[in-house]
Amino acid sequence: MNSRFWVVVPAAGVGSRMASRIPKQYLPLAGRTVIEWSLAPFLAEPSVAGIVVVLGQADTHWPQLAVSRDARIVLAPGGQERMYSVLSGLIRLEDTAESGDWVLVHDAARPCLHRTDLERLLASAAPGFAGGLLAAPVVDTLKRADDEGCVRDTLSRTGIWRAFTPQMFPYAELRDALERAVDEQWTVTDEASAMEQVGGRPHLVPGRADNIKITSPADLVMAEAIHRSWAQRGEH
Ligand code: CTP
Ligand code: MG
Repeated sequence: MNSRFWVVVPAAGVGSRMASRIPKQYLPLAGRTVIEWSLAPFLAEPSVAGIVVVLGQADTHWPQLAVSRDARIVLAPGGQERMYSVLSGLIRLEDTAESGDWVLVHDAARPCLHRTDLERLLASAAPGFAGGLLAAPVVDTLKRADDEGCVRDTLSRTGIWRAFTPQMFPYAELRDALERAVDEQWTVTDEASAMEQVGGRPHLVPGRADNIKITSPADLVMAEAIHRSWAQRGEH
C-alpha cells in the first residue's frame, strides 16, 4: 500500500471566544501568524501531496500572507460549523485524492504541532490501521458541577483522553462519515466523533500535551512560550 497524504485545514471560524480584532488564526505569534505556524509542519513534510485551506466568506487576511502563494495549497469555502468546513475541504479534493488516500485534518488554530508528533501519526498509517488522532491523557482531577457551581461529584479520569488534531482517516471513509453527520444532523466537533458514530474505532495516538488550540487570550501567551522554547532548542 502506497497511499498519499492530504491535509485539510479548517480556518473559517470567527474565534468568538477569543474576542480579538481579527480572527484568531491571523493573530501574530512568534514572528509569524497562528495559521502559518499551523501549516508549517505540513509544508515541511515531503510525503504531503497537497493542502486545502478552508476560508470564511469575508476573509481578507489570507491573501496578505506569503504562504498564500505556495503552490501546494488550494482553497475551499467554509461553512457554518466546523464539520461543514471540513467537508467542503474534502469535496475540494475529490478530483485529486483516491478513496484510500489518507487525509489529515488540522485546526488552523492549533499552531504548536511538533514535527515529531506529525511524524508519529504519519508512521502509524500502516496496513490494518483504521485511522486515528493525536491525543493525550487527562492529567487534572475532574469535577462535575451542580446547578449552584458546587462540586456534585469527582469523576474517574481513567481512560479519559483529550482529543487534538491532526486527525487522520482514509479519504472516502471520512467523507462518507461527515456526509452522514450532515444528513442526520449529528453535532460532531471532530472527525473522530463522526467516524465513531458510523461504527469506526479511531486509534488514540499519544501526542504532546503542548499541541494546544488557541481558544482564549491566555492560550496565545502559552503558544508564544512554547515557540520560544522550541526556537532556543532548535526544534522549529
Ligand atoms: N472552523 C471552521 N469553520 C467553522 C468553525 C470553525 O473552519 N464554521 C475552524 C476554526 O477556524 C478553527 C477550527 O475550526 O481553526 C477549530 O474551531 P474553534 O477553535 O472552535 O474556532 P472558532 O470557531 O473560530 O472559535 P469560537 O468557537 O470561539 O468561535
Ligand atoms: Mg468554534
